[in-house]
Amino acid sequence: MTDELALSVRHLTCGYRAGGGLWGKAVRQEVLRDVTFDIGQGEILGLVGESGTGKSTLAKAILGMVKPHSGEIIHYTRRPQMIFQDPYSSLNPAYTVAWILEEPLRIFGKYDGPERKRRVRDILDRVELPEETLDAKPAELSGGQRQRVSIAAALIQRPKFLVADEPVSALDVTIQAQILQLLKRLNQELGLSYLFISHDLNVVYQLCHRVLVMKSGRIVEQGPVEELFAHPQQDYTRQLLAAE
Ligand SMILES: Nc1ncnc2c1ncn2[C@@H]1O[C@H](COP(=O)(O)OP(=O)(O)OP(=O)(O)O)[C@@H](O)[C@H]1O
Ligand SMILES: [Mg+2]
Repeated sequence: MTDELALSVRHLTCGYRAGGGLWGKAVRQEVLRDVTFDIGQGEILGLVGESGTGKSTLAKAILGMVKPHSGEIIHYTRRPQMIFQDPYSSLNPAYTVAWILEEPLRIFGKYDGPERKRRVRDILDRVELPEETLDAKPAELSGGQRQRVSIAAALIQRPKFLVADEPVSALDVTIQAQILQLLKRLNQELGLSYLFISHDLNVVYQLCHRVLVMKSGRIVEQGPVEELFAHPQQDYTRQLLAAE
């Protein structure tokens, strides 16, 4: 880990437009309130908090899918990529893994065919999938293999920062452990930063360096994961830990 930043979020307030206000005008409904934090390069930052608190909204804001009402989001690396809980929704079911991995390079890259193929094989190797996987479609793979493919798809353009929203929640415990191991290795080998969203504090403890605790759209506590788990300062954090 270096002292350099991957991302800064400053006083971010954002939410969604809800229709049907007075005179049918759209009203702004704030979900995140005055959220401020940094992610260092190579850092794995966990984000925990109960359902509906705004974790996925923060992920969407960082990816530019939800516009801030105020505050700012400063990217120090290329735009981040996203890994979702359900790879079914992010992987096009009609295409083979080879096509899915190569397509972003065709659209955005300046590489010729052989170089694209080389990069696809390289990334497949990194996520520890055998070459036969290239000919499969997403539905023909197991849940764990599918999540490896979506990690490969997120990595194909060589980002430095990934936002992972509950990436292992849908997986069996043993598969979960393997994917966590993979994410940890990629962090170490490639120096990647993650914002890692999870409701599972055990998972956060295993993977993350630091953790943010969010309640009703505000950060109520943050700190190094071991310190925060051993000595939570806020009642809310103590409740989350007790609920495990
Ligand atoms: N597209 C949307 N339009 C309007 N409101 C939304 C939208 N998406 C989320 N919300 C609302 O924003 C709030 C925060 O939702 P968000 O999905 O960010 O929570 P979360 O912390 O990710 O929850 P979970 O742990 O269940 O995934 C909720 O009240 C939710 O109903
Ligand atoms: Mg969510």
